[in-house]
Amino acid sequence: MLFERRKPLDLILATAEKRSLKRQLGAFDLMMLGIGAVIGTGIFVLTAVAANKAGPGMMYSFVIAGIVCALTALIYSEIAAMVPVSGSAYTYSYAVLGELIAWMVGWALILEYAVAAGAVSVGWSGYANGFLAHHGFGLPDILTAGPFYTETLANGTQAVHMVDGVEHKGGFNLIAFLLALVVTALLAVGTSKSAKVTAVLVMVKIAALTAFIALAFPAVDSANFEPMLPNGWGTPLGGVGVLGAAASIFFAYVGFDAVSTAAEETKNPNRNIPIGLIGSLGICTVFYLLVAYTAVGSMGAQPGGPLSQSQEPLAFVLRTIGWPVVGDWVAGAAIIALPSVVLMMMFGQTRILFTMSRDGLLPEKLSRVHPKFHTPHVVTWITGVFVAFFAALFPVDILADISNAGTLFAFFMVAAGVMVLRKTEPNRPRPFRTPLVWIVGPLAMAGCLLLFFSLGWNPTIKFFCGWAIFGLIVYFLYARRSSHLAPGNEGLLHGYADNKLPADPLIQEGPSAGP
Ligand code: ALA
Repeated sequence: MLFERRKPLDLILATAEKRSLKRQLGAFDLMMLGIGAVIGTGIFVLTAVAANKAGPGMMYSFVIAGIVCALTALIYSEIAAMVPVSGSAYTYSYAVLGELIAWMVGWALILEYAVAAGAVSVGWSGYANGFLAHHGFGLPDILTAGPFYTETLANGTQAVHMVDGVEHKGGFNLIAFLLALVVTALLAVGTSKSAKVTAVLVMVKIAALTAFIALAFPAVDSANFEPMLPNGWGTPLGGVGVLGAAASIFFAYVGFDAVSTAAEETKNPNRNIPIGLIGSLGICTVFYLLVAYTAVGSMGAQPGGPLSQSQEPLAFVLRTIGWPVVGDWVAGAAIIALPSVVLMMMFGQTRILFTMSRDGLLPEKLSRVHPKFHTPHVVTWITGVFVAFFAALFPVDILADISNAGTLFAFFMVAAGVMVLRKTEPNRPRPFRTPLVWIVGPLAMAGCLLLFFSLGWNPTIKFFCGWAIFGLIVYFLYARRSSHLAPGNEGLLHGYADNKLPADPLIQEGPSAGP
């Protein structure tokens, strides 16, 4: 009974067909899109968090998280090429696993996108505050971090952050708050990043990471790798050790699924989408592994050590090993490029809420489109205000972990959906077939579970459970009845395919014009 409501796959495809976006993106554009969404706070900031949890063993954490993402990318490639709509895990689940699961996935994606936007804003503020402080314009401590800014000690407990023996207490992260609001305003007036801007910012990030690797490499000293696993491999729900760090650093890889949102605009999607998804992830993985190795090797990465406490770790390493000017450039690259990741995450969030509202699962008001700017301004501002407060109040590691919980849940469901679809619709054309799906699929699901349970129970998994229960309550009290698939609402469902209701303005723009 509970799982019978599905949005027909053919209806989704028919709606997409009507939009008929020009197929102009090639494999290179898709890779730029993927790398643009992936490289951000994860590598530039959470490297310190990973060091604090795992010590030099964080190199293994990068490998483990990368493998889970590679398996998921193979799965995403099949569904994105098969259902080339500008959707997301939410749309796929609606067609395959039914409304309840789709709702839960959409609900979890709020964590993936909105909370991640908050995390990237806080990560950015670490570099921006550092820049201001270096140039004599530093803000008072109380305005540089939220009130919950603590550090995770080697034993997994939280403690007040200490800088040079002085308690470093936060209050309101002003600059992260302002960044989130500025990005919201840009989205609300319809600012969208062109493929060219994306490509330039990708080059800036790649140049920064390349400079880091090249300069840190000669400073690698084998003594810095000892002890390799000061916190061991980690235990379930513990949130520390190699697995705990892998669960956190997973954040660094999130975003490659952005490629799937460009499916409708891709030339030769069966070839280019898998190349875009797997290629962007592959390139990021190579850079991440090299950055992790050189960071650990050049200055050590013991929990509680200087690297693990830095809010701008890559710049900090370069300054410490004698390259202060290049350290400033790397910080500058992060300051220039990270806001685009916030923009992409918030854009993804507005699109998902917009689609859920258009499906009747959220109030219709949310899908109102601004008469002049043609943007879903209501949902954009609601998202933006929430993101701004997350960013102002919470520390980056907690936000990233909560975002990871939502993403891992969504990835798990997409893997389940792809396998279910192999059974229920074996004859539907599949331009790309996940190789060895009966091995890759279960492994991807197992990997997602492993990382999920390696996040700490407190606060991450506890928060996720609370969020899921809240979501179920909203579903049964509101969404189930207002859904366009609910008895009596069927007319609304077909309205979009028949062009009687407004189409998605974001999708009309598409990612070549959009982020
Ligand atoms: N992967 C993105 C980042 O690290 C979300 O910022």
